[in-house]
Amino acid sequence: MTQPRVLHPIEGSATDLAAYERAGGYEAWRRCLQDMSRDDVVAEIKKAGLRGRGGAGFPTGIKWEKVLNHRVKDRYFVCNAGEHEPGTFKDRYLVNHRPHQLLEGCLIAAHTVNAKAAFIYLNHEYEEEHRHLEQAMAQAKAKGLIGKNIMGSGLDLEIEIFSGQGSYVAGEETAMLESMQGRPAMPRQKPPFYPTDFGLYGKPTLVNNVETLCNIPQIIRRGAGWFTEVGTEKCPGTMLFSLSGAVNTPGVYELPLGSPLRVLIEQYGGGVPNGRKVKAVFPGGPAFSMVTADQLDLAMDFDSLKKAGTGLGSAGVIVVDDATCMVAQTLKFSNFFKGESCGQCPPCRMGTINLATLMEKIERGEGTQKDMDSLLQLCGFVKGTGYCTLVTGAAVLVQSSVKLFKQEFDEHIARKVCPFKGTPAHV
Ligand SMILES: Cc1cc2nc3c(=O)[nH]c(=O)nc-3n(C[C@H](O)[C@H](O)[C@H](O)COP(=O)(O)O)c2cc1C
Repeated sequence: MTQPRVLHPIEGSATDLAAYERAGGYEAWRRCLQDMSRDDVVAEIKKAGLRGRGGAGFPTGIKWEKVLNHRVKDRYFVCNAGEHEPGTFKDRYLVNHRPHQLLEGCLIAAHTVNAKAAFIYLNHEYEEEHRHLEQAMAQAKAKGLIGKNIMGSGLDLEIEIFSGQGSYVAGEETAMLESMQGRPAMPRQKPPFYPTDFGLYGKPTLVNNVETLCNIPQIIRRGAGWFTEVGTEKCPGTMLFSLSGAVNTPGVYELPLGSPLRVLIEQYGGGVPNGRKVKAVFPGGPAFSMVTADQLDLAMDFDSLKKAGTGLGSAGVIVVDDATCMVAQTLKFSNFFKGESCGQCPPCRMGTINLATLMEKIERGEGTQKDMDSLLQLCGFVKGTGYCTLVTGAAVLVQSSVKLFKQEFDEHIARKVCPFKGTPAHV
């Protein structure tokens, strides 16, 4: 059995500062302030090969280096805790259960890039998480780990919680930055491509995901060598998989990157309930192509999934069983994308509405072959357009469903009724 490595071992309450310190908490922060230069920290993160856990898998050390060495001296740091994708709940878990670990990661990141202000953009819907984070922050402040003259070093550093919008698009980094500036959470037109060049108030900004940041204290404290002991060469370390849908024990599981999908579903998820079988899996949430039951030996890491024509995203793994109508399942996510489009770009605004409308018509048994042709044509038109990847995700979802389960679409059209009527779509 593949053993989960617990990146976050804490005995006692994770919101209790003393318990976190007993587990080595804030040692890395102390080391960064007292023994390491900013360049040392960046070098260690680069050596560890940590890749961002927010979806794109971009090398974290390279991002930090870019901001640290930027010619513009006013910089910002923002932790992205927007998390609002169906089937993804690992950041929420971390904020709730490991708030000190997140704070420590944020302190190290903000200090390393020499940020003049640091924020945690937290989905406003996450009230309990908000409370835990505030509690942890108050404890750290009382102990002199945040605030003025930290640990007598002369450094002043505050971290502010920004109550974020709670929409899917608000998690896209440029939309998040826009909303922090008091504007609607809508993605910026690119170029400029990266907040490292043009971020908050147009200044270089380091944006990192919650899980990415929770890895930082461990890498600094235990060293890059420890981090690379598990995972693959190009995707070292572990990943928190949010596992949901048709499994007996859904939850957040931490496994080495590159672990087989089968291990996650069968060993940790306890298999599919009610004697059913896996029909399909979204290995990286609804915006990436599905895989089928014959692909369960796929390695769960950024590169292997990309090679297989899909993606890991933020590792929101959704399992679909063989009692599920794939047209209904697809419609459910098409409606999600429609509801979450911010409406800024016409191809996304109109594309997501029309995709969902056609999907609904087909699901109700009122679709025609012409609707199928229009559906696929529309996917081709909108894919790759838009200021962010939302509409591309909406198109990929439909294309993948039609490619893998065309027969079910055809049956809806031929029989004018859903052959699975009465079975719910998952998630
Ligand atoms: C529609 C959309 C939603 C996103 N939502 C999130 C989110 O909730 N949390 C997150 O960390 N990244 C999200 N991202 C990715 C961010 O834009 C960004 O790449 C990430 O925060 C960078 O952090 P990392 O390098 O540590 O992964 C989203 C991207 C898109 C296109």
